[in-house]
Order: sequence, then C-alpha cells, then structure tokens
Amino acid sequence: MDKRGTFGSRLAIVLATAGSAVGLGNIWRFPFMTGQNGGAAFILIYFACVLLLGIPGMVNEFIVGRHAQTNAARAYGSIGGKRWRAIGYLGILTSTIILGFYAVVAGWCLQYLYASIAGQLDGDPAYVVTYFKTFSSDALKPCLWGVGFVLITHLVVAQGVEKGIERASKLLMPLLLMLLLILVVASCLLPNALAGIEFLLKPDFSKVSSGVFLEALGQAFFSLSLGTACLCTYASYFKRDTNLLRSATQIALLDSAIAILAGLMIFPAAFSVGVQPDSGPSLIFITLPNVFREAFGAMPVVGYVISILFYALLVFAALTSTISMHEIGTAFFHEELHLPRRKAAWILTVVCSLIAIFCSLSVGAYSNLQLFGMSLLDFCDFLTAQLMLPAGAFLTSILMGWFANRQLVQGEFTNGGTLRATFFKAWFFSVRYIVPLCIALIFLHQFGLL
Ligand code: PHE
Repeated sequence: MDKRGTFGSRLAIVLATAGSAVGLGNIWRFPFMTGQNGGAAFILIYFACVLLLGIPGMVNEFIVGRHAQTNAARAYGSIGGKRWRAIGYLGILTSTIILGFYAVVAGWCLQYLYASIAGQLDGDPAYVVTYFKTFSSDALKPCLWGVGFVLITHLVVAQGVEKGIERASKLLMPLLLMLLLILVVASCLLPNALAGIEFLLKPDFSKVSSGVFLEALGQAFFSLSLGTACLCTYASYFKRDTNLLRSATQIALLDSAIAILAGLMIFPAAFSVGVQPDSGPSLIFITLPNVFREAFGAMPVVGYVISILFYALLVFAALTSTISMHEIGTAFFHEELHLPRRKAAWILTVVCSLIAIFCSLSVGAYSNLQLFGMSLLDFCDFLTAQLMLPAGAFLTSILMGWFANRQLVQGEFTNGGTLRATFFKAWFFSVRYIVPLCIALIFLHQFGLL
C-alpha cells in the first residue's frame, strides 16, 4: 500500500477542511432553511448549535482521525474497539447518500454557469422562475449535469490528497469570500432591501415551531460536515502538531460567516424583487439572476462577468465539499479491500451517480418518485441531515466521552502535552454531557416523545 499523504502546511489543512465545510450547505441550504423557518430566530438557534455542539463535535472527529491515521471505520475501531467501527460505516453511508443528492444541486449550478456564459438568465423575475422550472423538470439535462459533477469529483479524488485537494482549496476559498462580499453589497443596495436585512437580523420567536430545533441542528452539522466521518478522514491527514481546537473553531467561524454572508446576499434581493423567502431549494436559483441584472443594471458587462465568476466559484465550493464526501468512501475501499485508489474511487462514483439520477428525476420529470410524502431528493436530505448526521455525532460523543481511553484523548487534545490543557476540561464535559444530551433532547422533542 502506498504511503498516506499528509496536507502540506498548516494553512492548507485549515483551508482544505474549510473547503469541505463551505459549500452548497452555506450558500444554497442555509438561505432556504432560514427562509422556511422564519429568519433570524432560526439563525440564533443554528449558532447555538454550532458553538455548543458543532465545535466540540468537530474536535471529537479530529481526534479520532488524527490518532488513527487511517480510514473512518478502522479509525473508530482503533479508538473504541471493533464494535465502534459501526460509526465509521454509518459515516461512509451518510456521505455517500449526501454526495448523491448534493451532486444534483451542484449540477444545477453547472447549468447556471453555462447559462450565464450563454446569457440565458437575463429576464424579469417571472422569467427567471420559469427558467428554473423548465430546466429542472427536463428528464435528461439535470441528470447529465449531476452525473457530470460526480465524475469531476472522481477525477480530483483519484489524483490523491496532495495534488488534487490541497491545490484547489488554497486558491478558490479566498476568491469565493471576496466575491460574496461584493454581492452582499450589491444586494443590500437594491430597493426595498431593508426588509430582507430585517428578516435576517430581527428574530421573531413566534415563528419557532417545534421542528425548528432539529432543522437548525441538522443545518449546523451538515454545514460543518459533521457526523459523516468526513472530518475524521481529513484529520487522518493532519500533522501531529495541528492544534485541533483552534482549527475547529476557525473553521466553524469561517463556515458560519459564509452562511450569514450568503443570507445577506439572498434575502435583501429576494425581498426586493418579490421572491418568497420560503421558496425552498429553488431559492438561490430564482433570486440570484435578479441580483446580477438589477444591481448591475447600469453596467451590464460587469453584471455578466460577476455572474459567471459567481457560478464558477459556487461550483468550486461544491466541488471541495463533494471531494471530501467521495474521499471518505474511497479511502475506505482503498485501504480495506486493498483496491488501487482509482478502482476504489470508481465504486463510489457509480453508486453516487445512480443516487443522483433518481434524486434528480424525483424533483423533475418523475415527481412521483416519493418517499414518506417527500421527493427522493428531499427525503435523502432529511434522512442524512436530520437523522444520520446527528446520530453519527451523538455516537461519537458517547464513544469519546465515556468509552475511549481518557489519557489518549487528552494526549491528542493537547498534542502530547505540548499545548496547554486549559480548555480540555470544558470540552470534555461538553462531549460527555452537553452534546449527547442536547442531541437526544432535540430528537425526542421532534418525535413527540417530550
Ligand atoms: N459541509 C458541506 C457543505 O456545507 C456539505 C458536506 C456534508 C460535506 C457532509 C461533507 C460531508 O456544503
């Protein structure tokens, strides 16, 4: 077997892991979840989940991965014994399903990149809505883009950690941040934008229904890539002197900042052009083209260039995330079945492409592809974000707080005693009690048992 790669520099680690975290979860899912759940109050609960449960949970996965330096299943086994490998298997399954439906939305982004280059998105708000509907209900096109996206991911992953993942992340993340800032300003300057800003910043707790807690929890975990063993797999490439708590905090803050920026980009514009904030998964696709057209009305060329750049960066943000989802399963098949990396990667690619095709059809040409009253795409999203991710994070916390060797855990947390253990006690307390209890309470509440 070839030597395991490691990420090159400290910055590269944070960037690559942030690349996994930052993606459609922030720019597509966060705004539409916020829109459906009433705005600012949802955001506050989401933040609480990131700080109280997300950061400790990330450190958990980092410790498992960096300690074991192997694929997710084996890593969990090496901390807790063979039975605990189950968390790794769960994570591999979760990330495979996520990759399947995520690729559909990433495929929509590819189509929008193409359409903005071809100048097809230029029209009034009603036209933009019709454009999305016509495209997404086509039987073939969205499937092809979705499968195409899985294939692009495959190409990068098959190249290996250092060459593919690191290089892409270093360049594109800062660029994405810059462009987001420009678009936030553009959107906030549109007429009537204030209503959108208020929606985001003024909490209305009367809109907080019982499901909001689980939705916010799911969004926090999805956005941080938490509970899929993805962070654990990336951490297996970390260096021994990486400060795990600091990296987790930095990534969580960056990730949340990008989500808020995405909100500030979408809602002022949505309110300005009369798009409903609770339009669901289509929200960014029916809002953004209006920003490009209206905000840059006086300088259409600038609007044209910025829209192309934006969709290109959205595609790259999605790609740095799909790479991480793909890598989990690829590392597993490569190391456990002793397959060459390329062959291992193909297994993932074929399975995820099939999921992508069915999910894509379920929101388009074959809308009768439903499970429990949801389209297959919505169902996969619900199943993973609201059930499997919290379950993965819950079990990991139980393992780390109650079953793992405490000295080992403390050793990893403090990098073998070279870092001060100031926060260890607080972190350990939260992993032992707060994280599992909160997740359990939210679950019980959701399913009417509390
Ligand atoms: N965090 C990614 C995003 O926000 C999605 C993701 C989920 C990536 C789970 C890996 C694992 O887009």
